[in-house]
Amino acid sequence: METAVVPMTVLSNTAIAPNGHRNGGSSRSDGRLIVMSNRAPIRIVREHGHERVEPTVGGVGSTFLRLLERHGGTWIAWSGGPRSPAPLTMPPGGEPRFRIVFAPLGEQDISDYYYAMCNRALWPLMHLMIPRMHFSRQHWQRYERVNRGFAEIAAREANGGDFLWVQDFHLALVPQFVREQRGDIPIGIFWHVPFPPEQLLRILPWREEFLNGMLGADLIGFHTRSYANHFLNCCAGVMGLRVDRARGEVAIGSRRVRVGAYPLGIPADFFAGLAASDKVRTRVARIRRAIGTPTIILGVDRLDYTKGILERLRGYERFLEQNPQWRRRVTLVLIAVPSRTKVSDYAQLKRDLDELVGNIVGRYSSEGWAPLRYLYTQFGAEELVAYYAAADVALLTPLRDGMNLVAKEFVASHLDDHGVLILSEFAGAAEELKEALLVNPYSVDQLADRIHQAIEMAPAERTRRLSAMRRTVHENSLELWSESFLDALGEAASPNTDAAIESAV
Ligand code: UDP
Ligand code: G6P
Repeated sequence: METAVVPMTVLSNTAIAPNGHRNGGSSRSDGRLIVMSNRAPIRIVREHGHERVEPTVGGVGSTFLRLLERHGGTWIAWSGGPRSPAPLTMPPGGEPRFRIVFAPLGEQDISDYYYAMCNRALWPLMHLMIPRMHFSRQHWQRYERVNRGFAEIAAREANGGDFLWVQDFHLALVPQFVREQRGDIPIGIFWHVPFPPEQLLRILPWREEFLNGMLGADLIGFHTRSYANHFLNCCAGVMGLRVDRARGEVAIGSRRVRVGAYPLGIPADFFAGLAASDKVRTRVARIRRAIGTPTIILGVDRLDYTKGILERLRGYERFLEQNPQWRRRVTLVLIAVPSRTKVSDYAQLKRDLDELVGNIVGRYSSEGWAPLRYLYTQFGAEELVAYYAAADVALLTPLRDGMNLVAKEFVASHLDDHGVLILSEFAGAAEELKEALLVNPYSVDQLADRIHQAIEMAPAERTRRLSAMRRTVHENSLELWSESFLDALGEAASPNTDAAIESAV
């Protein structure tokens, strides 16, 4: 079968400083980067005897695709289905920039590890959604088994001098499993979701094993200081370990594990460059013409209950109710990307959303105007940036979100200083984007007030807020983020390696 060259703008020439790594204790100058995540950055679609490669959606995929394109290396991930293709060089058919090695997952693995343990137990636990959690020993055992399988691939793939960088809550046990086989390579894990307070983590029946797995790493990174503090509290409270909060260190056996906050950045230049391109400007004009109202409000999310989409719509409905003068002059564009559609809570959310959209459209539409446009689809970077730039207001209201990259991407794509960002105070990004209009997404009235405030905001205030946020997203770029994590990993790994050597002598 023929594999087509990736037709996607995400395979971009994003600027990651090519030799920009300051060397910490362990030098990365000779070693490769091995990235590991559950979700691969691409999926292979088979149609009419041909194979096509498409990008997957989500912060982890978009981030590391851009990093590995620039740095090269190996990416270990699940293919997204029960078939496990041979290793792929990326981009297929082009000059190889990195390799993807697929971790084989059978039907039972997908069902018990991915759908059950990851999506119906750990995901709601990390996002503090107690009623949505379901635990079963069988699922946990499968989670352990799959994590062991991923670790074995890493142990096989890694040469001395390579760095292993594990991503997210699907693979919490991998650091310890790899360490048991390969004590010689620096191991880092980055947590892309929130980390819950100790009282909540205690709900997990296998909490010690879970924490112990993560502690196999030399460095554990979180988006915010408060997630890192929750983790440190769990190490002290659940595991009884010695924790140095000021230094961000946990002592376990003869090792010290570093724990810190590394807020994920975006390739801001890439988004600004796309927004400035003729192609995107033309699309922006087309979108604005097609929508037709002077004001456009935008929401972009995977269709996930953590994103607060229903709550957002209720807030918008309240706004329309209280502000009849704004009807016919504003449109909410809702981009909802299909996600985890086989999980019952997600299928239910889709039904609830369809119904609520129908109610609002039915109640408020008048001749030639619909109060909202609902797009249940996934866009590529160009189209997405066109929507970001076409919108006057971004309304991003997760009930809980590790970071929310969309908020940063909206800011970076708005070159005219005109846009207003309304952002949930429960998104990690709210810690950095302080000039956003922060909102409690659980309050319908506050949502309605913020929408009103945003669309009536004076131009000078819009400019002041947006330009300050733009500086922030350009300063904490994706390049800087990966550089600082890998530098810290190099430093964190060397004393541990030394300690291991001393004890072996
Ligand atoms: N995204 C995309 N196409 C879409 C919608 C979103 O490529 O139609 C990307 C978006 O650019 C962002 C990521 O998906 O990089 C979503 O990341 P975020 O942190 O906002 O949320 P997550 O999905 O990781 O929870
Ligand atoms: C979030 C998680 C990622 C995950 C993404 C998409 O961003 O932090 O690890 O890949 O959602 O979810 P999925 O279940 O499709 O991988």
